[in-house]
Amino acid sequence: MILSVKIGSGTLNNPVGVASGTFGYGSEYEQLLDLSRLGAIYTKAVTLEARAGNEIPRMVETPSGLLNSIGLANVGVERFLAEKLPPLTGLRCAIIANVAGASEDEYAAVVERLDGAPGLFGYEINLSCPNVRHGGLAFGTDPRQIERLTGRLRAITAKPLIVKLTPNVTDIAVIAKAAEAGGADAISCINTLVGMVIDTGTRRPVLPLGSGGLSGPAVRPVGVAMTWKVSRSVAIPVIGMGGIMTADDALQYLLAGASAVQIGTGTFVDPSIPIKVLEGIEEYCVREGIDSVEKVKEFLK
Ligand SMILES: Cc1cc2nc3c(=O)[nH]c(=O)nc-3n(C[C@H](O)[C@H](O)[C@H](O)COP(=O)(O)O)c2cc1C
Repeated sequence: MILSVKIGSGTLNNPVGVASGTFGYGSEYEQLLDLSRLGAIYTKAVTLEARAGNEIPRMVETPSGLLNSIGLANVGVERFLAEKLPPLTGLRCAIIANVAGASEDEYAAVVERLDGAPGLFGYEINLSCPNVRHGGLAFGTDPRQIERLTGRLRAITAKPLIVKLTPNVTDIAVIAKAAEAGGADAISCINTLVGMVIDTGTRRPVLPLGSGGLSGPAVRPVGVAMTWKVSRSVAIPVIGMGGIMTADDALQYLLAGASAVQIGTGTFVDPSIPIKVLEGIEEYCVREGIDSVEKVKEFLK
């Protein structure tokens, strides 16, 4: 049973990773599960300078979901390199830095600074950040800009370059194709969906900025549908996520066309979900006579 998954010039030991922003920098979970059994840890977003993030409250529960507005709080690239990355580099699993920025120059500067770091598998480029040069519109909505930015980052690094897409667009396939044309090795989908909760007592949105990003089981059918669409539009691997709580959920993504998956909000409920999901995928493949996890998509009827 082959569990490994190829992403560009690298190979993940298995298809199950933990999603950016939901797993800290990894070491926070050391006592709760065997990190070496994960296929990948996608770190909290890394920006050039440290960011304090948004005011509290930053999260509110919704039916089968979670609405968050963290604001990319992170320690910045220098502290990431000095403090957060070194404890992770001894692990068997791939460490993938989630990169964010408010301008193309910032994305490029972060990847340039990280690229020589030992033990880093590659990058996941978070394109859901507000683009300050374009009036705060998220980067991930303009295909020309995505192709240009991906091409620029491609010229900086030979490591696996994964572009993470926002679902808050009219046609995610157009965006995925732009990332592929720019030289991306894989596509991650989906990031959170824009949502809002209003407190009828205070008559104000609960989150200080009004809206936030919706994740968890509530978004799973959206994630599966977008994975289906994207995987039929590009030739590069797709990494699917959104609301995975069980192996069955993950298998839906793999059958939809994903080569790998990530678990985010699920680990808030039970940190051992990624391991249970991995074991469940393995059992399914053995039961169904599928000899490689990368082939699950071929078994869709
Ligand atoms: C609290 C929180 C923080 C997040 N921070 C990031 C982030 O820094 N970068 C990023 O690309 N995605 C971030 N995400 C999105 C997740 O990585 C994931 O794409 C999304 O939550 C869908 O998966 P899930 O339903 O399994 O959580 C965050 C999600 C949550 C819930």
